[in-house]
Amino acid sequence: MNPDATPPDRAPDPPVAPDRSDGPAEVAPPCRVMVVDDEEVIREILSDFLTMEGFQVITACDGEHALEQLDAHPINLVISDLKMPRMGGLELLANVREIHPEVVTLIMTGYGTVETAIEAMKRGAFDYVLKPFKVEEVMHTVRRGIEQQRLRAENIELKAALSLYRLAGRLGEEVELGPTLDLIVDTVRTQTRADRTGVILVPSEHGAWEAGDAPFTQHDLTPRARQATEPVIARNRRVFDWLVEAPHTEDITSLLMVPLVSRGARVGTLVAARDGGRPFAEGARKLGTIIADRAAAAVANAQLFETLEATFRTTIEAFVTALEDKDRYTAGHSERVADFARVTAEEMGLPPAEVELIHQAGRLHDIGKLTLRSEELNKPGPLTDEEYERFKAHPRYGEELLGPIPTFRDVIPAVGGHHERWDGKGYPRGIAGLEIPLMARIMAVADTYDAMTSHRAYRSALAHSKAVAELKRCRGTQFDPDIVDAFLVAIEKWRDQREAEGREYPR
Ligand SMILES: [Fe+2]
Repeated sequence: MNPDATPPDRAPDPPVAPDRSDGPAEVAPPCRVMVVDDEEVIREILSDFLTMEGFQVITACDGEHALEQLDAHPINLVISDLKMPRMGGLELLANVREIHPEVVTLIMTGYGTVETAIEAMKRGAFDYVLKPFKVEEVMHTVRRGIEQQRLRAENIELKAALSLYRLAGRLGEEVELGPTLDLIVDTVRTQTRADRTGVILVPSEHGAWEAGDAPFTQHDLTPRARQATEPVIARNRRVFDWLVEAPHTEDITSLLMVPLVSRGARVGTLVAARDGGRPFAEGARKLGTIIADRAAAAVANAQLFETLEATFRTTIEAFVTALEDKDRYTAGHSERVADFARVTAEEMGLPPAEVELIHQAGRLHDIGKLTLRSEELNKPGPLTDEEYERFKAHPRYGEELLGPIPTFRDVIPAVGGHHERWDGKGYPRGIAGLEIPLMARIMAVADTYDAMTSHRAYRSALAHSKAVAELKRCRGTQFDPDIVDAFLVAIEKWRDQREAEGREYPR
């Protein structure tokens, strides 16, 4: 058989809307039964009785004709003879299982072929009836088959509803784009049993995005797919009406594609694909539509959040610059501390993500000084008690400033703890040893080294060797000894590199 055959009433040209012929879900659609037999008289008898029972009936004279009908109409149940020309009952059964797994199949057979009927049931037929049959018996079996299908569909819907409920809950908690996309892709993959899933975001200021293990990008969508407004399922060659054929797409045999639309704007495309096996059935399209509905809103929100977050970042960076402008003696201090903290973290073998975080923390560690007055920051003489108290509060002010912004959540320990001391004599909390967050312990060493080796309002810069001697002296009292050791190795490498690049460094 040729699954690519397109019956004339199922032309795929746009818009390829979902097959509405079974009506919207709000009214129970009439059940459609197909009678497949090469004997016209049997087709007629069964048709008449099934119609009287309230079923819509379609007939086919053999397996091939039946498959064409299945492609053209949604059908609930197929009742088929075993022996027919062109394609017999067993082969038809195998094809129905493969292409339309939701369809219930019933086999009719003569007394001599009961073994074949049993074989048919092993291959997934719901039941069989023996010829010559009593009509009432056939009607009864059909009704049981339809009931079983209804229960199965309900069960699937319940399972889907449960997982969608979970998805909606988790999407509600997630604000970041990456995890949002991962959640959507995971749910689609498990719910539709796809081999590959992905979300392709419409290029925006965030660029072209993709998620999941599928290497799908905007370039994989045909112009028609980008214009599509309705969910699509396609199989075999039809897949390439929607996806551009390429080495990474050529194995796809079945495709589910759902546009993600939020507040009237296309935000992306949900793609699920199978490489071989059963093609996606109508249920997958419905499920995809429901998931896409929630996914589109979540993606739009996450994108909005990213924009907000980017604004926050820019604002905070502007604050850092403002701070350094305010205090002419500490120009470049935050940047240098960030650098020293980074090379120390690298020397300690911390994972790259943590190194990056420590670098960011370095830039922000003194952000709380924004609350100090300019003349206090630049005061050449000693601070009054009151001024000193206010100065000592700057790590806490920093925590308060960054607290409400989720992006900066992870750098807060470094900001709040960079004036704590290993021996517990620091501020603002006076915590000691390993109680002090690792990032803060690193920051303390980096901060002190830079403070010593740069000019301040109240003294001139110390030489590198003097600063090193001072760090060694305070190793185990003011500073975590392990971090001082790592720093001393890292700073020498850093200085060598600066020298090689012809850039400035503390002499
Ligand atoms: Fe500080």
